[in-house]
Amino acid sequence: MPPVLEIQDLRVEFRVPNGVVHAVNGVSLTQEEEEVFCVVGESGAGKSALALAVMGLLPDNGAVTGGRILFDGVDLVTASAEHLRQLRGKSMSLVFQDAQSALNPVQTIGQQLTEVIITHSNLNRRAAGGVCQEMLRELGVPDPRRMMSAYPFTLSGGQCQRVMLAMALVMRPRLLIADEVTSSVDVTLQAEILERLKELSRDSKSAILLITHDMGVVANMARRVGVMYAGHLVEIADLLPIFQQPRHPYTWSLLQTLPRLDAAGRRLQALRGTPPDLINISEQCPFVPRCPKALSRCREEPTPGLSEMEERHWAACYNPVEYP
Ligand SMILES: Nc1ncnc2c1ncn2[C@@H]1O[C@H](COP(=O)(O)OP(=O)(O)O)[C@@H](O)[C@H]1O
Ligand SMILES: [Mg+2]
Repeated sequence: MPPVLEIQDLRVEFRVPNGVVHAVNGVSLTQEEEEVFCVVGESGAGKSALALAVMGLLPDNGAVTGGRILFDGVDLVTASAEHLRQLRGKSMSLVFQDAQSALNPVQTIGQQLTEVIITHSNLNRRAAGGVCQEMLRELGVPDPRRMMSAYPFTLSGGQCQRVMLAMALVMRPRLLIADEVTSSVDVTLQAEILERLKELSRDSKSAILLITHDMGVVANMARRVGVMYAGHLVEIADLLPIFQQPRHPYTWSLLQTLPRLDAAGRRLQALRGTPPDLINISEQCPFVPRCPKALSRCREEPTPGLSEMEERHWAACYNPVEYP
């Protein structure tokens, strides 16, 4: 089976009054069928820019300036707007953090959910309504019928998040991109939503590209992990090697900021130093100013590409962390 998603050397930029923000700087990743791939990194790393680029939903001042995004083998960067519209909501969908604002305030949940189905299938309104109720039930909504007639402002953040997930999953897409979907809900609800998401993706055979700044979410969900820093994926590996033998000093540093993985409060604490300015980027590795292992080579040579450290374990570093 070819991968669901293959991103090759992707670049995304935003025009701003004082220059250009280099939000994604040569990201490559491969997402296999039915896999949960987590992209993790601090705020401002370019995670949402990556997600929006894949969906073809960058704002007007943003653009893909290089690379390819192959979805089922078709390059989305050069695909027509019409083709992207057909894919969105049906074959691939996106859920992001601020669910409440993404819902239309003047339509009921039911109207909005059934609209997705009617647009992408030949079901009539009644049948579509049934499918929606079923989906809400699967996501753990106790009274789906009542939920269908509710307006978004009457729902809690967690309920809105479930509705957004139902909307994203109702067509059983090949790929779901979930961008910080549990960041605004409490820990218990987060665990439940993630569990449902895992079940649903298994049942509907959807691959999930899960974007988060929370290593706890990564530990819960990921099969493969990509660690993002300043628009670069600096390390890619399966879940356990990322936690047990991280090779990039940034990944290593991130893990040092965690108190204990099984303890509460697993949000990433700030590392020492500040993330780099993405307007005036340099050729060198962006982590050098904060890196505990930087060599003079790191300041002189262009940032290294990903190289394979162990089987299926890649890191972009001249002086990776070693283990005995
Ligand atoms: N619409 C935009 N216009 C200008 N700059 C943007 C825009 N969206 C994001 N950026 C900038 O791009 C960089 C990456 O942002 P983003 O992808 O949102 O990061 P993350 O999701 O990892 O927090 C940041 O420097 C951010 O300020
Ligand atoms: Mg973001």
